Amino acid sequence: MRRKKIYEGKAKVLFEGPEPGTLVQYFKDDATAFNNQKHGLIAGKGVLNNRISEYLMQKLEEIGIPTHFVRRLNMREQLIREVEIIPLEVIVRNVAAGSISKRLGIEEGTILPRAIVEYCLKDDALGDPMVTEEHIAAFGWASPQDLDEILQLTLRINDFLNGLFLGIGLKLVDFKLEFGRLWEDDQMRIVLADEISPDSCRLWDVATSEKMDKDRFRRDLGNVEEAYQEVARRLGVLPEAGPVDIKPPRVMQ
Ligand SMILES: Nc1ncnc2c1ncn2[C@@H]1O[C@H](COP(=O)(O)OP(=O)(O)O)[C@@H](O)[C@H]1O
Ligand SMILES: [Mg+2]
Repeated sequence: MRRKKIYEGKAKVLFEGPEPGTLVQYFKDDATAFNNQKHGLIAGKGVLNNRISEYLMQKLEEIGIPTHFVRRLNMREQLIREVEIIPLEVIVRNVAAGSISKRLGIEEGTILPRAIVEYCLKDDALGDPMVTEEHIAAFGWASPQDLDEILQLTLRINDFLNGLFLGIGLKLVDFKLEFGRLWEDDQMRIVLADEISPDSCRLWDVATSEKMDKDRFRRDLGNVEEAYQEVARRLGVLPEAGPVDIKPPRVMQ
């Protein structure tokens, strides 16, 4: 089937969906880091992230968090509702790691006194700079009401995911969310969009502190594929056929 490609990003491709207001989100194996300076492939990542994000979005829907997720279509694709993406990366930190450790000189692994939410402008050319609520309101990226809704949803998602991951022996160190606006007969709702996966979360094994996320790729720690598989396995969503059935991506034009 030939479908119109709407957008190709670093990790996913968006195609026109079967009905107006829907899109098909295709998960690639491509991995990038450090503002696109490092490129690579993580074999089977797209298949695993498709499943992992499906599972987590469904669980979030069950506690009343509105998401863009409709249903998984196949190994690498899911049907989503098209939203107007709010151009912010919403980052939640429970434990210091990555840029906060560098910027503020906090040792990686330090438990933060409370969850810290940061906003970055989604702009690859600018390197996704951190912005404040002042910038967000002044430049109209989100209204104060929208941002308040985003913050409330984000904190609920953080509480829920902390417990969910702890239950499978993983510490949710930090993660990134994207939200969008969805209109339904003149009513606007903010919904969770994009994906939640080891690409967008830092997950550390509770027992060994081993990194089980994209930091294995960023920092050349090895066993990248295995880490993603282990997260999927613990969530109970590892495809039955296992790695054998995980083929490289075949992006249709
Ligand atoms: N429901 C949605 N509707 C419209 N756009 C979306 C939706 N969910 C995610 N997106 C956007 O689709 C793109 C997903 O592909 P990705 O490879 O992550 O792109 P990028 O390189 O821009 O991060 C992102 O730009 C994301 O903001
Ligand atoms: Mg992205």
